[in-house]
Amino acid sequence: MPDFDRKFAEAEARIAAARAKQRDVPCGLEPLSRVIPDWLDHLKPQVLDEAELQARERSLRLEARRERLMTSPIRESLSSSPETPGSARTVTDEWRILHDRCEHTMALEAVQRWVHKWASVHTASITRPALIIAGPTGIGKTMAAAWAVAEVGARYVRFPELIEDHRAFQRKAGIRELETERHAFNAKFVRPGFVILDELGIEGDRDRDGAKEALAYFVEKRQMWHQRTLVLTNKSNAELLARFESGQYDQRTLDRLRRLLITAVEDDSRIALDLKGDSMRRARST
Ligand SMILES: Nc1ncnc2c1ncn2[C@@H]1O[C@H](COP(=O)(O)OP(=O)(O)OP(=O)(O)O)[C@@H](O)[C@H]1O
Ligand SMILES: [Mg+2]
Repeated sequence: MPDFDRKFAEAEARIAAARAKQRDVPCGLEPLSRVIPDWLDHLKPQVLDEAELQARERSLRLEARRERLMTSPIRESLSSSPETPGSARTVTDEWRILHDRCEHTMALEAVQRWVHKWASVHTASITRPALIIAGPTGIGKTMAAAWAVAEVGARYVRFPELIEDHRAFQRKAGIRELETERHAFNAKFVRPGFVILDELGIEGDRDRDGAKEALAYFVEKRQMWHQRTLVLTNKSNAELLARFESGQYDQRTLDRLRRLLITAVEDDSRIALDLKGDSMRRARST
């Protein structure tokens, strides 16, 4: 072999040996041809069977309901009670609501029927947006409201708080201050959506004027069809009507309410749904 050819062959052999050596050095990256099938496998939609799908749906629903209930001030109005009288085991109202273990009270049934009516696309547009539930203490009005908070979400407020907030923004002297206060008030009570007003009628004589004005303002601002409003009270239908007739509450408020209330669809004098029953609170704690 001529010298030149031999040198050339040696050089080629060196290069080939170096290349071979390079190939053996692990480069840290998998060849794409090996990685891509894994990626594709990972991207493939997971096929779940019916039972798995239902389990996932249940856990997502529970999570969403828990989130709504736990972030609502209605929790302060709920309690935990002995499972049976005298028993050491306690069951919280929250647990009952989240795990669908509420007893089927009249209040719960009324709230559930009304909420399902406006939550359904078939009946939403013809369902009146307001409901007043009246009944003695402990029959489960607030529990029914808490179910609604968990199920569909709602802003919850007690009547004394409405009176106080209304008074606060009326008391403001400066225009700017007043605007800020009005803005906060509107965000809480007026904004579209579902609002629950609990304990209407609980106000004392000292708050009589404040209550009349606050209720008038609240109802005036919640006249839209898409503003769902649930009101809970210990006063009966007759007692509420008497308050409007005597002027303790504003007559115009009653006129406005009549157009909004589901209870007044057929009978104008039925503004609140009167519910009866024994206190479940007393039954459990004695
Ligand atoms: N549907 C229900 N299932 C099981 N327990 C209930 C139910 N409703 C109410 N209770 C029990 O009764 C207690 C009192 O109920 P709740 O606070 O809802 O009454 P209320 O009608 O709002 O009374 P008040 O007029 O005094 O506010 C609750 O803390 C709960 O322990
Ligand atoms: Mg209550």
